[in-house]
Amino acid sequence: MPQRTWLRRSLLTLLGLTAALAATVGLALARADYKLQRQVDLQVAAVPLPDDAAALERGRYLYLSRGCVDCHDRAGGGRVLIDDGKGLLVRGPNIAQGSLTVANYRVEDWVRAIRHGVKPDGRPAIVMPSEDYNRLSDEDMGALIAHLQRMPRVEGGPAIVQLSLPFKAMYGLGLIEDAAEKIDHSLPPSPPMASTVSVANGAYVASMCIGCHGPGFSGGKIPGTPPDWPPASNLTPGEGSAMPAYKSAEQFATMMRSGRRPDGSAVSSVMPFNALKELNDADLHAMYAYLQTLPAKSAGRR
Ligand code: HEC
Ligand code: HEC
Repeated sequence: MPQRTWLRRSLLTLLGLTAALAATVGLALARADYKLQRQVDLQVAAVPLPDDAAALERGRYLYLSRGCVDCHDRAGGGRVLIDDGKGLLVRGPNIAQGSLTVANYRVEDWVRAIRHGVKPDGRPAIVMPSEDYNRLSDEDMGALIAHLQRMPRVEGGPAIVQLSLPFKAMYGLGLIEDAAEKIDHSLPPSPPMASTVSVANGAYVASMCIGCHGPGFSGGKIPGTPPDWPPASNLTPGEGSAMPAYKSAEQFATMMRSGRRPDGSAVSSVMPFNALKELNDADLHAMYAYLQTLPAKSAGRR
């Protein structure tokens, strides 16, 4: 084929590919806007709110240990979770008393937001990992809400959720899903679960790990996180597992509290140690027992 024809064909192919790529990105961004604005229709019932001291303490424990502090801060005023300097900026809203976000909340609004990742106006939350909280028992949900409703006023503004172009395109293409998409909203809540060293309680507590370690606990790149975040580790006994370093529940508990492996090296601060260090012994030991029962998967299979 004469060289000029070849060159022309290559150029035309390149132009075609560029146009196709631009069209795909355009469609992905439009689809992202549609997903952000969509209405998630859910019938949500209120849960009974306790007011005894033990239940309120349980609610406080859940708030501190389940990761809420990472984005909403200890006092509930909200804090920045991600600011990659390239357009991705996420700040959790103030959810303490008197804040605009929760000023008119009814009990079912708390339940819908925390368990289902859906705001009172029916639109999805984008960043909050409600898939981790979906199976909270009614008793724990009630205790958590009772605690939240008693959090004293504190400084802090509304949520800031600024999506970078790549994040938005991936969200539009379905490579990143919001919690409301991930959750099977028809699943019933977990039955009441006591903080004891049982595999069942271990599974219950470990649901706060799936947003990062994946529903099958085999880890891998956490969808939507900046490129410099390490992949989450494989917690199953499969290939590339992080667990052989932990010969006992005690060693595991020490790492979860201190952020240091048995050999003294530091685990990435992507692990939410602020929250994990609050977990009590029974919950940590139960999780260790549960992780041993997982079917083996190779690393990164989510
Ligand atoms: C990884 C960060 C993160 C964690 C962990 C987190 N949240 Fe959020 N939360 C957010 C962000 C960001 C929003 C704003 C909505 C969104 O995601 O787009 C939000 C919104 C909310 C809202 C208000 C929804 C609305 O706009 O009406 C409530 C209530 C709330 N969170 C409670 C909680 C509680 C309770 C926990 C712990 C059980 C928790 N969150 C854990 C980041 C987080
Ligand atoms: C916000 C995301 C996130 C959450 C939530 C999270 N992890 Fe991790 N985890 C990570 C990342 C990322 C790594 C890899 C750390 C590294 O490479 O230094 C990791 C590593 C680990 C490791 C291996 C540590 C080692 O020896 O290298 C264990 C064990 C672990 N996580 C357990 C858990 C458990 C159990 C939970 C839930 C209670 C949990 N993680 C929740 C992100 C998370």
